[in-house]
Amino acid sequence: MVNVRLVLGNSLSSKVLDSIEDGSVDLLLTDPPFGGGISFLEQWVPPYVGKLRDTGVFVSFYAVERVTELVDVLREADLKIRCIGVWHCPDFYGEGEVNYGGAIIVIVVATRNRGMGHHCGLDKHDQRFFLTEASRCSGGEELGHPCQKPVDVVLPLVQNWSFIGDTVLDPFMGSGTTGEAAIRLGREFIGIEERGDYFESASGRLGDVSFSVDDISPMGVRA
Ligand SMILES: C[S@@+](CC[C@H](N)C(=O)[O-])C[C@H]1O[C@@H](n2cnc3c(N)ncnc32)[C@H](O)[C@@H]1O
Repeated sequence: MVNVRLVLGNSLSSKVLDSIEDGSVDLLLTDPPFGGGISFLEQWVPPYVGKLRDTGVFVSFYAVERVTELVDVLREADLKIRCIGVWHCPDFYGEGEVNYGGAIIVIVVATRNRGMGHHCGLDKHDQRFFLTEASRCSGGEELGHPCQKPVDVVLPLVQNWSFIGDTVLDPFMGSGTTGEAAIRLGREFIGIEERGDYFESASGRLGDVSFSVDDISPMGVRA
Protein backbone atom coordinates (compact mmCIF):
# COMPACT_ATOMS: atom_id res chain seq x y z
CA MET A 1 0.00 0.00 0.00
CA VAL A 2 1.50 3.33 -1.07
CA ASN A 3 0.84 6.49 0.99
CA VAL A 4 -0.67 9.29 -1.08
CA ARG A 5 -1.40 12.81 0.16
CA LEU A 6 -3.16 15.23 -2.17
CA VAL A 7 -3.52 18.89 -1.21
CA LEU A 8 -5.97 21.30 -2.81
CA GLY A 9 -4.38 24.73 -2.39
CA ASN A 10 -1.72 27.22 -3.36
CA SER A 11 1.68 25.56 -3.09
CA LEU A 12 3.23 28.93 -2.21
CA SER A 13 0.99 29.55 0.80
CA SER A 14 2.57 29.17 4.22
CA LYS A 15 -0.25 26.82 5.25
CA VAL A 16 0.62 24.36 2.48
CA LEU A 17 4.37 24.81 2.86
CA ASP A 18 4.18 24.25 6.62
CA SER A 19 2.26 21.01 6.07
CA ILE A 20 5.34 19.41 4.46
CA GLU A 21 8.25 18.75 6.76
CA ASP A 22 11.59 20.25 5.76
CA GLY A 23 14.13 17.61 4.70
CA SER A 24 11.50 14.91 4.19
CA VAL A 25 11.31 14.54 0.40
CA ASP A 26 13.51 12.26 -1.73
CA LEU A 27 12.43 13.45 -5.16
CA LEU A 28 10.76 16.68 -6.17
CA LEU A 29 9.46 16.05 -9.69
CA THR A 30 7.36 18.77 -11.19
CA ASP A 31 6.12 20.55 -14.26
CA PRO A 32 5.50 24.13 -13.15
CA PRO A 33 3.85 26.93 -15.12
CA PHE A 34 6.61 28.16 -17.45
CA GLY A 35 5.37 31.73 -17.86
CA GLY A 36 6.10 33.22 -14.42
CA GLY A 37 9.72 34.06 -15.10
CA ILE A 38 12.43 34.50 -12.51
CA SER A 39 10.21 36.14 -9.91
CA PHE A 40 7.89 33.11 -9.79
CA LEU A 41 10.87 30.73 -9.69
CA GLU A 42 12.35 32.72 -6.82
CA GLN A 43 9.09 32.29 -4.92
CA TRP A 44 8.69 28.54 -5.18
CA VAL A 45 12.14 27.01 -5.75
CA PRO A 46 13.90 27.94 -2.46
CA PRO A 47 11.15 26.77 -0.07
CA TYR A 48 10.70 23.52 -1.99
CA VAL A 49 14.44 22.87 -2.12
CA GLY A 50 14.21 23.07 1.68
CA LYS A 51 11.80 20.12 1.62
CA LEU A 52 14.45 17.84 0.10
CA ARG A 53 16.57 15.46 2.12
CA ASP A 54 20.35 15.83 1.79
CA THR A 55 20.28 13.02 -0.76
CA GLY A 56 17.25 14.54 -2.49
CA VAL A 57 16.91 15.16 -6.22
CA PHE A 58 15.11 18.02 -7.93
CA VAL A 59 13.67 17.35 -11.41
CA SER A 60 11.65 19.89 -13.36
CA PHE A 61 10.25 20.17 -16.84
CA TYR A 62 10.91 23.61 -18.32
CA ALA A 63 10.67 25.57 -21.56
CA VAL A 64 13.96 25.30 -23.44
CA GLU A 65 14.06 29.02 -24.24
CA ARG A 66 13.79 29.88 -20.52
CA VAL A 67 15.92 27.17 -19.01
CA THR A 68 18.73 29.52 -17.98
CA GLU A 69 16.29 31.20 -15.56
CA LEU A 70 15.63 27.91 -13.78
CA VAL A 71 19.31 26.95 -13.77
CA ASP A 72 20.27 30.31 -12.23
CA VAL A 73 17.64 30.05 -9.49
CA LEU A 74 18.64 26.45 -8.69
CA ARG A 75 22.30 27.44 -8.40
CA GLU A 76 21.30 30.37 -6.20
CA ALA A 77 19.54 27.81 -3.97
CA ASP A 78 22.87 25.92 -3.83
CA LEU A 79 21.81 22.95 -5.94
CA LYS A 80 24.20 21.26 -8.32
CA ILE A 81 22.91 20.91 -11.87
CA ARG A 82 23.54 17.31 -12.92
CA CYS A 83 22.09 17.07 -16.40
CA ILE A 84 19.44 18.46 -18.70
CA GLY A 85 17.33 16.01 -20.67
CA VAL A 86 15.04 16.63 -23.59
CA TRP A 87 11.48 15.63 -24.35
CA HIS A 88 10.74 16.09 -28.02
CA CYS A 89 7.02 16.32 -28.63
CA PRO A 90 6.56 16.03 -32.41
CA ASP A 91 2.88 17.01 -32.36
CA PHE A 92 3.17 19.91 -29.94
CA TYR A 93 1.13 22.99 -30.71
CA GLY A 94 0.68 26.17 -28.74
CA GLU A 95 -2.51 28.12 -28.26
CA GLY A 96 -1.56 30.96 -30.63
CA GLU A 97 -1.97 31.06 -34.39
CA VAL A 98 1.56 29.93 -35.13
CA ASN A 99 2.40 26.25 -35.13
CA TYR A 100 6.07 25.89 -34.26
CA GLY A 101 6.19 22.26 -35.30
CA GLY A 102 7.80 19.89 -32.84
CA ALA A 103 8.50 21.40 -29.45
CA ILE A 104 11.46 20.74 -27.22
CA ILE A 105 10.77 20.70 -23.50
CA VAL A 106 13.77 20.26 -21.24
CA ILE A 107 14.05 18.24 -18.02
CA VAL A 108 16.50 19.73 -15.51
CA VAL A 109 18.01 17.41 -12.89
CA ALA A 110 19.78 18.90 -9.85
CA THR A 111 20.88 17.56 -6.48
CA ARG A 112 21.29 18.97 -3.00
CA ASN A 113 24.59 17.32 -2.32
CA ARG A 114 27.64 17.81 -4.51
CA GLY A 115 28.98 14.29 -4.30
CA MET A 116 27.18 11.04 -4.99
CA GLY A 117 24.83 9.36 -2.52
CA HIS A 118 21.66 10.72 -4.04
CA HIS A 119 19.05 8.26 -5.07
CA CYS A 120 19.35 6.71 -8.46
CA GLY A 121 17.28 3.64 -9.21
CA LEU A 122 18.78 2.60 -12.54
CA ASP A 123 22.10 1.26 -13.67
CA LYS A 124 23.89 4.10 -15.41
CA HIS A 125 23.90 2.25 -18.71
CA ASP A 126 20.10 2.27 -18.59
CA GLN A 127 19.85 6.03 -18.05
CA ARG A 128 18.99 6.66 -21.64
CA PHE A 129 15.87 8.73 -21.18
CA PHE A 130 17.62 12.01 -21.82
CA LEU A 131 16.32 12.23 -25.33
CA THR A 132 12.73 11.08 -25.19
CA GLU A 133 10.36 11.33 -28.12
CA ALA A 134 6.70 11.04 -27.19
CA SER A 135 3.50 12.50 -28.54
CA ARG A 136 1.04 14.59 -26.59
CA CYS A 137 -1.42 12.71 -24.44
CA SER A 138 -4.34 11.46 -26.45
CA GLY A 139 -7.08 8.86 -26.37
CA GLY A 140 -7.73 7.16 -23.05
CA GLU A 141 -4.77 8.82 -21.33
CA GLU A 142 -5.97 12.36 -22.00
CA LEU A 143 -7.84 13.88 -19.04
CA GLY A 144 -8.58 17.39 -20.30
CA HIS A 145 -5.59 19.16 -18.74
CA PRO A 146 -3.94 21.34 -21.42
CA CYS A 147 -0.41 20.60 -20.16
CA GLN A 148 -0.79 16.92 -19.27
CA LYS A 149 2.50 15.08 -19.69
CA PRO A 150 2.60 11.49 -21.02
CA VAL A 151 3.14 9.09 -18.14
CA ASP A 152 5.69 7.18 -20.22
CA VAL A 153 7.91 10.28 -20.16
CA VAL A 154 7.57 10.63 -16.38
CA LEU A 155 7.95 6.96 -15.34
CA PRO A 156 11.68 6.74 -16.15
CA LEU A 157 12.33 10.00 -14.28
CA VAL A 158 10.78 8.56 -11.12
CA GLN A 159 12.57 5.26 -11.58
CA ASN A 160 15.86 6.97 -12.29
CA TRP A 161 15.92 9.41 -9.41
CA SER A 162 14.28 7.58 -6.50
CA PHE A 163 13.95 4.19 -4.87
CA ILE A 164 10.90 2.12 -3.96
CA GLY A 165 9.43 3.55 -0.74
CA ASP A 166 10.86 7.06 -1.30
CA THR A 167 8.69 10.16 -1.06
CA VAL A 168 7.98 11.99 -4.32
CA LEU A 169 6.55 15.53 -4.23
CA ASP A 170 4.88 17.50 -7.03
CA PRO A 171 3.86 21.06 -6.02
CA PHE A 172 2.20 21.69 -9.42
CA MET A 173 0.36 18.41 -9.82
CA GLY A 174 -2.11 19.21 -12.61
CA SER A 175 -3.85 16.00 -13.66
CA GLY A 176 -1.55 13.89 -11.46
CA THR A 177 0.91 12.39 -13.95
CA THR A 178 3.81 12.46 -11.45
CA GLY A 179 1.53 10.81 -8.91
CA GLU A 180 0.54 8.03 -11.30
CA ALA A 181 4.19 7.29 -12.07
CA ALA A 182 5.17 7.41 -8.38
CA ILE A 183 2.39 5.09 -7.23
CA ARG A 184 2.92 2.60 -10.04
CA LEU A 185 6.59 2.42 -9.05
CA GLY A 186 5.89 1.98 -5.32
CA ARG A 187 6.85 5.48 -4.13
CA GLU A 188 4.90 7.57 -1.61
CA PHE A 189 3.39 10.66 -3.20
CA ILE A 190 2.48 14.21 -2.13
CA GLY A 191 0.72 16.30 -4.77
CA ILE A 192 -0.48 19.91 -4.62
CA GLU A 193 -2.85 21.58 -7.06
CA GLU A 194 -4.71 24.88 -6.67
CA ARG A 195 -7.46 24.42 -9.26
CA GLY A 196 -10.44 22.45 -8.04
CA ASP A 197 -11.24 20.88 -11.43
CA TYR A 198 -7.68 19.62 -11.94
CA PHE A 199 -7.51 18.47 -8.33
CA GLU A 200 -10.70 16.42 -8.79
CA SER A 201 -9.33 14.93 -11.96
CA ALA A 202 -6.05 13.96 -10.25
CA SER A 203 -7.84 12.56 -7.20
CA GLY A 204 -10.02 10.33 -9.37
CA ARG A 205 -7.08 9.21 -11.45
CA LEU A 206 -4.79 8.39 -8.52
CA GLY A 207 -7.48 6.51 -6.66
CA ASP A 208 -7.41 3.95 -9.48
CA VAL A 209 -3.63 3.50 -9.66
CA SER A 210 -1.73 0.81 -7.84
CA PHE A 211 1.86 -0.37 -7.52
CA SER A 212 2.73 -2.87 -10.20
CA VAL A 213 5.95 -4.81 -10.51
CA ASP A 214 5.20 -4.95 -14.23
CA ASP A 215 6.20 -1.29 -14.41
CA ILE A 216 9.68 -1.95 -13.08
CA SER A 217 11.77 -2.73 -16.13
CA PRO A 218 15.45 -2.01 -16.83
CA MET A 219 14.47 1.12 -18.72
CA GLY A 220 11.97 2.17 -16.08
CA VAL A 221 9.04 2.19 -18.47
CA ARG A 222 6.29 -0.30 -18.98
CA ALA A 223 7.42 -3.49 -20.63
C1 LIG B 1 2.00 22.52 -16.30
S1 LIG B 1 0.67 22.09 -15.26
C2 LIG B 1 1.12 20.49 -14.66
C3 LIG B 1 0.60 19.40 -15.55
C4 LIG B 1 0.92 18.02 -15.02
N1 LIG B 1 2.33 17.72 -15.15
C5 LIG B 1 0.11 16.96 -15.74
O1 LIG B 1 0.71 16.07 -16.39
O2 LIG B 1 -1.11 17.02 -15.70
C6 LIG B 1 0.94 23.11 -13.87
C7 LIG B 1 -0.19 23.03 -12.84
O3 LIG B 1 0.19 23.83 -11.72
C8 LIG B 1 -0.99 24.40 -11.19
N2 LIG B 1 -0.56 25.57 -10.39
C9 LIG B 1 -0.07 26.74 -10.84
N3 LIG B 1 0.28 27.55 -9.82
C10 LIG B 1 0.01 26.84 -8.68
C11 LIG B 1 0.17 27.11 -7.30
N4 LIG B 1 0.68 28.28 -6.87
N5 LIG B 1 -0.20 26.17 -6.41
C12 LIG B 1 -0.70 24.97 -6.83
N6 LIG B 1 -0.87 24.66 -8.13
C13 LIG B 1 -0.52 25.57 -9.06
C14 LIG B 1 -1.83 24.74 -12.39
O4 LIG B 1 -3.21 24.85 -12.07
C15 LIG B 1 -1.54 23.56 -13.31
O5 LIG B 1 -2.49 22.54 -13.18
